[in-house]
Amino acid sequence: MLRISSLKKLVTDSMAIDLGTASTIIAVKGRGVVLDEPSLVAINEISEEIVAFGQEAGDMAGREGRDVVVRAPLIGGVVGDFERTKKMLAHFVKKARTGGSNLSLQAVMSMVSDVTQVEQRALLNAAEESHIGKVFMMEEALAAAFGAGVLPTDKRASAIIDIGSATTNIAVVAKGNVITSTSERYGSSAINEVLATHLRRHRGLQVGEETIEFLKTTFASAYLPEDITKTIEVRGRDVQTGSPAAVEITTGEVYPIVESIVRRIAEMIRETLTELRPEVAADIYDRGVILTGGGALLEGIDKYLRNFINLPVTVSDEPRYATVHGLLKMFDDPKLLERVSRNEVSVLQNAEIPFEA
Ligand SMILES: Nc1ncnc2c1ncn2[C@@H]1O[C@H](COP(=O)(O)OP(=O)(O)OP(=O)(O)O)[C@@H](O)[C@H]1O
Ligand SMILES: [Mg+2]
Repeated sequence: MLRISSLKKLVTDSMAIDLGTASTIIAVKGRGVVLDEPSLVAINEISEEIVAFGQEAGDMAGREGRDVVVRAPLIGGVVGDFERTKKMLAHFVKKARTGGSNLSLQAVMSMVSDVTQVEQRALLNAAEESHIGKVFMMEEALAAAFGAGVLPTDKRASAIIDIGSATTNIAVVAKGNVITSTSERYGSSAINEVLATHLRRHRGLQVGEETIEFLKTTFASAYLPEDITKTIEVRGRDVQTGSPAAVEITTGEVYPIVESIVRRIAEMIRETLTELRPEVAADIYDRGVILTGGGALLEGIDKYLRNFINLPVTVSDEPRYATVHGLLKMFDDPKLLERVSRNEVSVLQNAEIPFEA
């Protein structure tokens, strides 16, 4: 016999949404991560219509048809391109829903800690458009901490460093509260930029984003490789002649370029960790820091940081999924969700909706 409680479980989808600049990740309670796609849309320039979302748009990037451009609507702040962000989110939510669209839906979504009221309002509005019955917003740093295994009951402080594509967030949490959170608009994609610039200026080769991403994720590292003569062929377009071309690049050539960015991130982290109160500093001295976000997957970045800040550094399990895993955990603890959720009634009811066309 079906009891009411199990019926209720059947008709409610509980969804965790991490809307990142680089990727959108959605997990559903009971099913885990169900969607992980680039935060991209492909737009027909003539009709202004969106012709593809997510992975499909990503596959077009750099090889778009004549009238098509691929855009990352979240780049340049949360409300960079709000109308398209909204449509993209609605598309992803629909795709992630369990078995069609008849289930009611509650969602918890993350937002960066320095989000403005206007941006928060915009995100809530976007979620409402996706036909989500109830949306909770929580601070991304806290979600990442819970996802990385920090317990909301732990009275001692933990430091969580989320290295995303466009931002790095350094947060210290204790007892399920954020003690400090500093965010810089500087992340792993800065590595792509310097690599592309180097190839263009010093090797005369223009390369596309997919090629650079491949170079970064398979060949680059944050420590000086033992064999600095290992080579990889990089293909693109000759700057001088415009012709299709290729150059060979070595690990020894790539390393200092990558290191310049990793060092900047490390300096930022070291700087932030000098501003802690003594008790908090003592906890962090013991425990070190936890890395989350895709930037934590750069080969050797943990080792580099360990040397740089002289503290233990660990990379969380599945660092790209730390935030979404933390968000999902909130459904097991409604009291905690209520406490950490940052939906302000005033924001919900009184704010104007500046983005409606
Ligand atoms: N194996 C890897 N090695 C190095 N970098 C990687 C690897 N995998 C992913 N990345 C980088 O991680 C970044 C994406 O991280 P993540 O998915 O956490 O970003 P995001 O949450 O979408 O961005 P943000 O937090 O800035 O909004 C990209 O710059 C990507 O190149
Ligand atoms: Mg992120």
